[in-house]
Amino acid sequence: MAESRGSGSEPGRLLQLDRLIPKLWESSSPSVTAALRIAVKVVNRQKRRLAVVGGVVRDLLLQKSVFDVDVMSESPTRSLAREVAEELHAELVEHDRFLTFTIHLEGGLKLDVVTARQESYGAPGQLPVVAPAPIEMDLKRRDFTVNSIAVFLDSSNEGRLLDPFGGIDDLRSRKIRALHDQSFVDDPTRIFRAARFAGRFSFDVDPKTQKQIEGSIGKGYPRLLSPARRRHEFELVLREVDPGPALRLLESWGVLAVIHQDWALRPEHLEALRRVDRKDLEGRLACWFRPWGPAAAQKMMTELGFERATKKAVHDALAGK
Ligand code: CTP
Repeated sequence: MAESRGSGSEPGRLLQLDRLIPKLWESSSPSVTAALRIAVKVVNRQKRRLAVVGGVVRDLLLQKSVFDVDVMSESPTRSLAREVAEELHAELVEHDRFLTFTIHLEGGLKLDVVTARQESYGAPGQLPVVAPAPIEMDLKRRDFTVNSIAVFLDSSNEGRLLDPFGGIDDLRSRKIRALHDQSFVDDPTRIFRAARFAGRFSFDVDPKTQKQIEGSIGKGYPRLLSPARRRHEFELVLREVDPGPALRLLESWGVLAVIHQDWALRPEHLEALRRVDRKDLEGRLACWFRPWGPAAAQKMMTELGFERATKKAVHDALAGK
């Protein structure tokens, strides 16, 4: 997972491609650099490929700060993740279902070791079934062109770039573009993601992608997401530095009312949310629920499966406790 915050870089000016790897090493925190060095050492010894991928490549190219990093290698990757974690005495969390391994580093940072995979979706809105695949194929299962760029780190391929869908061109022209027609049918959470990335980077949603989003919403696919997944996507929106642009897009697409039938964006939401730091999720939830009052807020939070502690914090904030 890559967390990024704006650094005020000039719109449209991307990092030079030959600066990508040096910039990754220069700008990563010491704990991430140490983990990456071990990962590279292990794959070089095993003569395997390792690439940095997804949000981190996007954010480096956009000249934004990079915090957490995703690296991808081909199956089996468990031993690679374990070796990195052991050498650093770091906690390792294994997400077997998605063949992903999270190494928790100092300073609250993470290195995700992702197994290159393909995905198949049984039905719209369900989680995919995954199977190991080559790195090139993994890039095809992703959401947007700008998130489907990879750069190799292993010594045999170091610096080689994979950009099969023109993600770099889309970063230059500031566009959110899905990879294929089924994207928002397979995974309607990508509608929220499109709003987040378009909002965060002030990018446009490509017209064809816009039509695909409208098609998925028109067929009711976002409603098939479980309440927990709808809640999670909404929380990710609230964690944006300024959630306003993403919320406006979601409102214009009619998606807020999909999360909960009573929801609508109001001007006071935007003002209130801007005043609360992105790290204070409960504070931001309180801003969101305030217009409905404490009793209605509790009912909605129960319907969406919020945790008891979160409900209490929001209740206390709304009741002025
Ligand atoms: N991804 C995807 N479809 C999803 C979720 C994730 O294709 N529904 C892929 C994207 O390629 C994404 C990568 O998995 O870049 C990692 O996911 P995540 O960490 O959520 O995305 P980031 O791009 O790192 O987003 P953020 O900057 O908000 O952390």
